[in-house]
Order: sequence, then structure tokens, then C-alpha cells
Amino acid sequence: MTKICCIGAGYVGGPTMAMIAKQCPDVQVNVVDINENRIAAWQTDELPIYEPGLLEVVQEARGRNLFFSTDVDQGIRDADIVFVSVNTPTKTFGEGAGCASDLQYWELCARRIKEVSTSDKIIVEKSTLPVRTAEAMERVLHAGDNPVHFEVLSNPEFLAEGTAIDDLHNPDRVLIGGHETETGRKAIQTLVEIYATWIPRERILTTNLWSSELSKLTANAFLAQRVSSINAISALCEATEADVAEVAHAIGTDSRIGPKFLKASIGFGGSCFKKDILNLVYLCETYGLKEPAEYWRQVVVMNEYQEKRFVTTMLHSMFNTIANKRIAVLGFAFKADTGDTRESPAIKVCRELAAEHATIVVSDPEAMENAKLEMPELADRIGFEEDPYKAAEGAHAVAVLTDWKLYKELDFRRIYDGMQKPAFLFDGRNMLDHDALFEMGFEVYSIGKGYKTHLK
Ligand code: UDX
Ligand code: ADP
Repeated sequence: MTKICCIGAGYVGGPTMAMIAKQCPDVQVNVVDINENRIAAWQTDELPIYEPGLLEVVQEARGRNLFFSTDVDQGIRDADIVFVSVNTPTKTFGEGAGCASDLQYWELCARRIKEVSTSDKIIVEKSTLPVRTAEAMERVLHAGDNPVHFEVLSNPEFLAEGTAIDDLHNPDRVLIGGHETETGRKAIQTLVEIYATWIPRERILTTNLWSSELSKLTANAFLAQRVSSINAISALCEATEADVAEVAHAIGTDSRIGPKFLKASIGFGGSCFKKDILNLVYLCETYGLKEPAEYWRQVVVMNEYQEKRFVTTMLHSMFNTIANKRIAVLGFAFKADTGDTRESPAIKVCRELAAEHATIVVSDPEAMENAKLEMPELADRIGFEEDPYKAAEGAHAVAVLTDWKLYKELDFRRIYDGMQKPAFLFDGRNMLDHDALFEMGFEVYSIGKGYKTHLK
């Protein structure tokens, strides 16, 4: 029986290992983490992350061939394959601060693996890492005289939160990078066979290590660039009375462009996009490639502009003052179907609103706990109210910041009746029926469609 250990039971490690365990009953999967609360939650039906369909997958395999534990050393020692899926946030200190990846958790893992291993292992990079990290890891793993052989593979994760189970079940591709040596090829083959249990062989791509590492950063940079591109156009639409949804549809029907990732929004968030682009920028700079670095940095600059522009529009349309006005923020997660608030554009928006001395009430169906932890410094300006109707009661404005489906189905007549007049509605996701809202009496602003007002 093949034994897998995954270090890191987060948004990536948890769902990925649950899927491998479900699909491969003859593979034993141990997920380990130093965070005791997280591990305890994985052992219950109150999983530590919200992800549609995840609980069913976990329930099928848990206790059969899927186990969660805080005993990291034992997990490593027993395993033939060790996935490393720990966090690699942007560095906040020292060289490359604000840009480079903080690899301390990864290196600690590598040292631990080296320390406790008594048999040969395949080490799989699951976390997104700078290109050539595998090389540094190999040095750590093979430092000194160690009879154990470690073969490092890169197997980046392309799942998106909210659709993780479907992405894992039916991925566009699985990417596995490894050395072009005999042991490298053998290790790649071992991992290919695991995925081939449920994924057609032609969708499993194998490359050299560096291509695999770079492909992950590049995929996220391209996706984020599409969002920034359409957001740049949304600003122009508002200035010219073009409609960004019509423009997106018109260009998306060109098969060379395609329809996905063209939804104008308040900006992209999530733990990956900004981090990975900055990582790419830092890599370019490290290799002396100034123009490529600036080119990619602009995707992040555009995103910050879009977040800021939204608040500026709110302020200007509400007569240049929002001090002590009640603003209901509907949605705090970085996108729908997740409780994750990391790098959510809602954080920036709330900070800017608070700087204007607004009174903010945040509502979200899944992200309330995380939202409460994001902005402790704004505690005296922010309240939390799970019920969107209560959040909007007595408000001067409602701002929709996450594309939760339930917001399309709200009774906006009821919301309008309970609000101060004029009642402002700012749609940061361009997802509501703006004509109907305007008819109801709302002052309506939407990204890339502009501002509709009854005021003269
Ligand atoms: C992303 C990648 O999609 C995934 O492949 C990778 O493994 C991890 O990073 P994720 O961060 O979960 O996944 O979310 P994603 O669906 O890509 O959305 C990122 C952000 O872009 C969200 O804030 C979303 O609201 C925004 N977005 C997306 C838009 O504003 N418009 C779009 O058209 C698409
Ligand atoms: P991601 O979105 O990449 O999955 P998360 O932050 O959700 O990131 O998960 C990473 C997990 O890795 C966390 O639960 C953290 O406790 C765990 N972790 C970090 N360093 C170590 C380590 N040295 N040993 C075990 N687990 C670790």
C-alpha cells in the first residue's frame, strides 16, 4: 500500500488529499498540520474551510484511508510520498519584503523531513513557490551525509476555491515536473499513476521541474491580468457610456479570447493572485529583467486602482461626505462560495470607508468569522450582522462586494423601504438588475456601467 503524507491541512492540502483518498482507496493518506484546532476540525463534520461538496468527499474516505493528525514526524516517517502544502505568504520583512515569497515554513518542513526520514521518499511541492525552489530544497534535504534519497517533484495546484471539488474531480490538466534523470522519471511515473486512477492520461502533463514551477505563477498571472484588463476597460466604459458587460460579451465570443475571467469587478482577491504576481515580479527583478517586472507589476497596480476608484465613486456620489453615514457591506469573502477573506477587496474598501469616518456594517453568509479577524484596528467603526436585511436597516448605502448568488435573490423593495433616502446602491460585482433597482428608487452605481441618479 502506497503511503502519502501531506504537510499542511489548509485550503489546498485538505481538499486535494481528500480527493486522492476518495479516488484511490488503496493509497493511505495522512494529512498532518501543527495547527491543533485545524486538525481537530477536520475530524468533525464542521470542517475548518467552507467548500461546496467537500464534506461528502471527506466523509467517504475519512477513517478508511484518510487520516488527520498533528504528529508531523510520524506522518513523514511512514510515508513514501510527502506532499508539502504549507503557506508561502509574501515576505513582510528584509530583502524582497512585499514581493518575494516567505519560504521559512517550506524550509522548516524540508529540515524536518531530512531529520526524521529513515527511508527514500518522493517530496512533492504543492505550495506555489518561486522557480528553482526545488533546487534549494534538494540542497537542504541532501546536506551532510544522509543515506536516504529524496526525489523532489513539482505538482502545482490549480484548484480555485468555491469550485475546488469539481476542479479536483475533473481538472483541465494535472502538471507534474521532475528531473530528467532515471530516479526523476521514476518518481514522476509514481505520481502519474496516482492521478491516472481518475484523470485521463492525456490530461496529465509532465515537464521539467522549472517549467512546472513557473507554469503555476504564469497561470495565475495570466488569469489576474484578464481581470485587470477588463477592469481597466470598466473605467473607460463609465466615462464613455459603453457597458462593460456588453463589451466583455462581445470580445469573449471571439474564440481566441474566450468568455471566462472577463467579469469586471471591484478587483481580484484571494491568497494567490497578488502573491504570485509579486513573486513573478521579484523573480524578473532578480534576473535583471526590469521591463518584464514592470509589465506584471502593473496588473497589481490596476487592481489597487479599481478598489480605490470604487470608494471614491461612493464618496463623490454621496455628496462628498460619508462621515457617520451607515454603510451596509454585503459580502466580505474574496469571491462567492468561500469563507476565505485573504486579500479580499472588501478589506481595502472597508479601510477606505473607515478613513472617511463611515459607520460600516458587514454581512456575509460564510465569511463572518474570518471578517472579524481581518480588521481589528477598525473595531470602533465596524459592526457585523449576518442578516443582510438587518445590515441594511437604516443605512444610507448598500455596497455589494461579493458575488454571492443570494444577493441576486434579495427583496430589494424591502431593503429600500428600510433605508435612509436617497438610498444608494453600489454594485461592486456588476451582478444585480440595475434598471429594476433604479425603478424602485435607488441611486444605482455599477462597475463599468456608471451611475444612474434621480437627483437633479
Ligand atoms: C486562483 C486560480 O483560479 C487557481 O487556479 C489557483 O490555483 C489559485 O488562485 P482562487 O484564488 O480560488 O483561484 O479564485 P479565482 O476564481 O481565480 O478568483 C480570483 C479573484 O478574481 C476573485 O476575487 C474573483 O472574484 C476575481 N474575479 C475572477 C473577477 O473579478 N472577475 C472574473 O471574471 C474572475
Ligand atoms: P493554502 O491556502 O496554501 O492551503 P493555508 O494557510 O490554508 O494555505 O494552509 C497551510 C497550512 O500549513 C496551515 O494550516 C499551517 O498550520 C500549516 N503549516 C505551516 N507550517 C507547517 C509546518 N512546519 N508543519 C506542519 N504544518 C504547517
